[in-house]
Amino acid sequence: MTPLLLLFLLLSSANLSYALDSISASQPLSGEQKLTSEGGNFALGFFKPGKPNYYYIGIWYNKISKQTPVWVASRDTPITDPATTQLKISADGNLVLSNHSTPTIWSTRVANISSAKTLAVLLDSGNLVLRDASRPNVTLWQSIDHPTHTWLPGGKLGLNKVTGVSQHLTSWKSSEDPSSGIYHLELDANGTSQYYIIWNNSYNYNYWTSGTWNGHIFSLVPEMTANYIYDFQYVSTPTENYFTYSVKSSIMISRFIMDVSGHIQQQTWLPESQEWILFWSQPKDQCGAYSLCGPYGICNQNVQPYCKCVKGFSETSPTNWDLLDRTGGCTRDTQLQCSRNSSDGGAEKDKFYPMLDTGLPDNSKNLRVGSSSDCEQACLNNCSCTAYSYDTTTGCYVWYGELRNLQEQVSSGGGTLFLRLAASEIQSPPKSKKKENVVVAAIGGAAGCLIFLAIVWVLIWRRRRGMAGKSKAVEGGLLAFRYSDLQRATKNFSEKLGGGAFGSVFKGTLPNSTAIAVKKLEGLRQGEKQFRTEVSTIGTVQHVNLVRLHGFCSEGSQKLLVYEYMPKGSLDTHLFHDMSAAAVPDWKTRYQIALGTARGLTYLHEQCRDCIIHCDIKPENILLDSSFVPKVADFGLAKLMGRDFSRVLTTMRGTRGYLAPEWISGVAITAKADVYSYGMMLFEIISGKRNSDQGEELKIGFFPTLAATKLMEGDAVSLLDKRLNGDGDAEEVTRACKVACWCIQDNEDARPSMGQVVQILEGVVEVNMPPMPRALQVLADTPGNIVFYSELTSNSSQAQSATSASSQTKSTSSVSSKD
Ligand SMILES: *[C@@H]1O[C@H](CO)[C@@H](O)[C@H](O)[C@H]1NC(C)=O
Ligand SMILES: *[C@@H]1O[C@H](CO)[C@@H](O)[C@H](O)[C@H]1NC(C)=O
Ligand SMILES: *[C@@H]1O[C@H](CO)[C@@H](O)[C@H](O)[C@H]1NC(C)=O
Ligand SMILES: *[C@@H]1O[C@H](CO)[C@@H](O)[C@H](O)[C@H]1NC(C)=O
Ligand SMILES: *[C@@H]1O[C@H](CO)[C@@H](O)[C@H](O)[C@H]1NC(C)=O
Ligand SMILES: *[C@@H]1O[C@H](CO)[C@@H](O)[C@H](O)[C@H]1NC(C)=O
Ligand SMILES: *[C@@H]1O[C@H](CO)[C@@H](O)[C@H](O)[C@H]1NC(C)=O
Repeated sequence: MTPLLLLFLLLSSANLSYALDSISASQPLSGEQKLTSEGGNFALGFFKPGKPNYYYIGIWYNKISKQTPVWVASRDTPITDPATTQLKISADGNLVLSNHSTPTIWSTRVANISSAKTLAVLLDSGNLVLRDASRPNVTLWQSIDHPTHTWLPGGKLGLNKVTGVSQHLTSWKSSEDPSSGIYHLELDANGTSQYYIIWNNSYNYNYWTSGTWNGHIFSLVPEMTANYIYDFQYVSTPTENYFTYSVKSSIMISRFIMDVSGHIQQQTWLPESQEWILFWSQPKDQCGAYSLCGPYGICNQNVQPYCKCVKGFSETSPTNWDLLDRTGGCTRDTQLQCSRNSSDGGAEKDKFYPMLDTGLPDNSKNLRVGSSSDCEQACLNNCSCTAYSYDTTTGCYVWYGELRNLQEQVSSGGGTLFLRLAASEIQSPPKSKKKENVVVAAIGGAAGCLIFLAIVWVLIWRRRRGMAGKSKAVEGGLLAFRYSDLQRATKNFSEKLGGGAFGSVFKGTLPNSTAIAVKKLEGLRQGEKQFRTEVSTIGTVQHVNLVRLHGFCSEGSQKLLVYEYMPKGSLDTHLFHDMSAAAVPDWKTRYQIALGTARGLTYLHEQCRDCIIHCDIKPENILLDSSFVPKVADFGLAKLMGRDFSRVLTTMRGTRGYLAPEWISGVAITAKADVYSYGMMLFEIISGKRNSDQGEELKIGFFPTLAATKLMEGDAVSLLDKRLNGDGDAEEVTRACKVACWCIQDNEDARPSMGQVVQILEGVVEVNMPPMPRALQVLADTPGNIVFYSELTSNSSQAQSATSASSQTKSTSSVSSKD
């Protein structure tokens, strides 16, 4: 054999090893080699999850662009050099990870392998299986029995009653560190059929439970049952109890994880935007995970990021904090006076900083003292007391040591927490900086004076310009506001009109007494140029049923949009709040609101220059002017916010009930997604209630199901908001119900276009009876966060006849913008 041929053979065998799906005694794995499962779904090899040079053996999805490990072999023992580390079959038949100095870094540790010949095979289900080569159907060990943070279809989460070994999920330590984190999901160790999420391995901190299994569902997570995507199964045998599931759709890539945020999540891969989107999550509230923000961190449900440090404290490790490992929490900036040395005896006593509307931490101690000042004094007297709270009805509570689980801006159940801080933290900050400036200017020579004067002149000039309220006009008649002007107009953002995931809205008044609504955008990661382009596009869109954009502000990271102010607020406040029959909008008004909204959307979809898909149609985004003319708000935001929009939208509470199934299935989003949301909203306009709130009351599952039934019975009027006492035009109600039913068809092509909706509501076009839903099972937002999409199936002949003209607005997703 010539040396060349030998080299060739060596090379080709090296290449071959990349395509293998198994490790045998003669074929170890090391360095950059990887196994690929037979169908190509999964790969196994060394991976590096973060910046430090730490590697792990893991299994990840082979067909998606973002490396997403589903299993890690030795999560608590990182490897520094994959080239000198081998994953191999050892002499005793086990699969082991070893290097020159450590023969067993990790092992499958199966005792008594009788056969000397074993084989580790990576299956297409993501399971790594250790087999006896001579008896291939005997499984000695499999990775799916040892889950890390991901629960794969076919895997078990449970408890072996004989050995007491549990198969549980443990979160990663941080978003880039797969070592064991602080949160676990496991089956009750006491043997009941319920799951717990626990913090720090302690049942004292079990903050979420599924409730017990009744044979069909878990009592507290009724949505976690078989549906058209998943099939869940609970198995109880004399030796083990476990829960397992399968995914019915072979196309969809879906995973179930214990996230680093302390939530169990179901995520689905969205090929359009090349990212995971959240499909379901528990606990329902982001701040519901125990100690999410660590000691002295405070959680806010309504803003992102959710965690920050309380006043007077800073992140203990900003690096870990940014990687979502908040276990280190926050550290006090200034030592308390009481813990300082006696030499410092002259220092001022510690003070208390009031934190209003705060969700109070647990572990408080109730003291029997008479007044607020006694309570304060009691806390001051003990140096380990970190906070107190006093309420005339419940009395005095004090906290010793670390404060965890603080929550900000809670709407109910909160109180005022008085946080102990060093006195210097509370006094108004000294004006040392300004003084320094003056000193510098004074000691500078004539040149310094000139510069100083120039600065003063510029400041005065800018201020005067600000006073005049003059802002530069830009393309599309939009005004470019300065931040300071908007600060003044909104009285330093003091009057909040509303808040969403993309920012809060504040009321303001311009110097010419025009009322405005200012939206402070959060989490926008767009370049300046792109921002201006998008905003000027939005500015050119004008229609009587669309909220008018007056201008914007873009200063550094501050991005604000300035809209016309809508005195009657948003539609949800008129529909869902408990109001007397006299105060709720009558049927005529509701019909006009439905029609106006449809016209606004038609304009967006079909008539303006660049077609705009709204993506977030819900009553909160329909604003009303003084005479109840509806105006669609927040259009164009989807494009402006880019990928974050779809991410936030699909994770945000309160939006889900309006999202079309294609958001979850990953098909491109078209204008028909707005049609779906509009249909959901139309049902709510008719009934005066959230679709998602009606399940229990109706005992029928879901309002649209009832609507379809009533329509068949020719009794649509009975669907009307009870507060209207049946006072509504029967024909209009019927028409609206039919349109709504058509709008929420699963099949996009069966839904009408917004233009057709307008025609139907105007009575210009007749509409057929919608198909009777067979298993419409939308649980929407309550009681869990999952959405079960309907199997509104149909008689396809009917489906086609209603909407003969199929969608004309086939523009693709404006959401997955390329950035
Ligand atoms: C072998 O692995 C162990 C454990 O990961 C590590 O401490 C050691 O430095 C490694 N030795 C070599 C030579 O890479
Ligand atoms: C392993 O083999 C030994 C001796 O054959 C036996 O006593 C022991 O019970 C076996 N252990 C297991 C776990 O099978
Ligand atoms: C293993 O496979 C063989 C042949 O396919 C079959 O006869 C045997 O019953 C199988 N054993 C088990 C334990 O399934
Ligand atoms: C398990 O059972 C014991 C005894 O009944 C009880 O004290 C404990 O609280 C239970 N643990 C959980 C997590 O329910
Ligand atoms: C978790 O509990 C252990 C004791 O079981 C304790 O030492 C450790 O500090 C706890 N971790 C945190 C983050 O509090
Ligand atoms: C107080 O000061 C003394 C001497 O300066 C020092 O030894 C001691 O550790 C200090 N105590 C505290 C609590 O800081
Ligand atoms: C302060 O309170 C803690 C917790 O209740 C207690 O253990 C400690 O003895 C108290 N210290 C003083 C000086 O009272």
